[in-house]
Amino acid sequence: MSKEIVLSGIRPTGNLHLGNYFGAVRNWVNMQTEFDCYYCIVDWHSLTTHPDTKELRHNVLRMLSELVASGLDPEKCVLYVQSDVPEIAELYLYLNMMAYKGELEKTTTFKDKVRSHPENINAGLLTYPVLQSADILIHRALKVPVGKDQAQHLEMCRNFAERFNHRYGEVFPLPQAFNYGNDLIKIMSLDGNGKMSKSENQMNTLYLADNDELIRKKIMKAKTDSGPTAPNSLKPDYIENLFGLMQLVSAADTIEKFEHDFNSCVIRYGDMKKQLAEDMVKFMSPIRNKATEIENDKAFLSRIIKTGSEKARASAQKTIKLVRDAVGVNYI
Ligand code: TRP
Repeated sequence: MSKEIVLSGIRPTGNLHLGNYFGAVRNWVNMQTEFDCYYCIVDWHSLTTHPDTKELRHNVLRMLSELVASGLDPEKCVLYVQSDVPEIAELYLYLNMMAYKGELEKTTTFKDKVRSHPENINAGLLTYPVLQSADILIHRALKVPVGKDQAQHLEMCRNFAERFNHRYGEVFPLPQAFNYGNDLIKIMSLDGNGKMSKSENQMNTLYLADNDELIRKKIMKAKTDSGPTAPNSLKPDYIENLFGLMQLVSAADTIEKFEHDFNSCVIRYGDMKKQLAEDMVKFMSPIRNKATEIENDKAFLSRIIKTGSEKARASAQKTIKLVRDAVGVNYI
């Protein structure tokens, strides 16, 4: 029995942060053994919002290094860069004929970008969900590990696939969002405002690339207050977030101690943050050091990129053949 096909993508628009690590990448690592996994660094997608490509090469290579340092094994999964697989662009073209202007304009992510970047509303941005669908359908993937914010894009992907199948014959299975466990880990920004981000709010986001001093500094600056005034109070969300971070990197008895201190109103947030900072450094520094080692080994990186693109293209070419036959654009 062949394994089910999994695909996910990540935009190289900045460094990986703790939210990416615990929310997405750890899931990807876990899926490697059980499924046939394709993981793609989607550099074309980043062009929709980041037309300046000065940092692109560095960002792609660093992201690849961080993904491998985090546990993605290029022998167990297909790890590749989107622009190395031109078949994705061809499929994007066919799928664009399945996408209606009205539904693209109604997409939440598009409307958000129109509001935040009115100076660059390009067609690539409008058809972003079509390119994402091509990423998924090019391997005829069934499972797509993504967060809730991608649910609408996935629904659009299923619609495009269904329309294609209906018009030209069954080529694509319909993909579903997928994650291990029901509750996806959400990591808030350290100032308590929204989520950690690859490119914004950098002093309140912990990046895998941050050095030990910076990790300590950011955590020590995290938002707290003067502490609870009644026993067993409800935690404000920014305090809950600090406990949540402890859950990820600290020992059980450490967490218990601070829980107890909180519930009996004697908690000292300064001490808690110091402890958290040390545990976080212990957790993050080996990953960072490994990523830097990989990043400096240019031959190793090139090899990963080359093998990844070969494997991804082999799968993509099979699908494109089916697509061309179904559409009827094969004249030789
Ligand atoms: N849109 C996704 C995001 O912003 C990135 C992405 C691109 C993706 N192509 C994909 C995710 C294919 C899953 C599958 O996070």
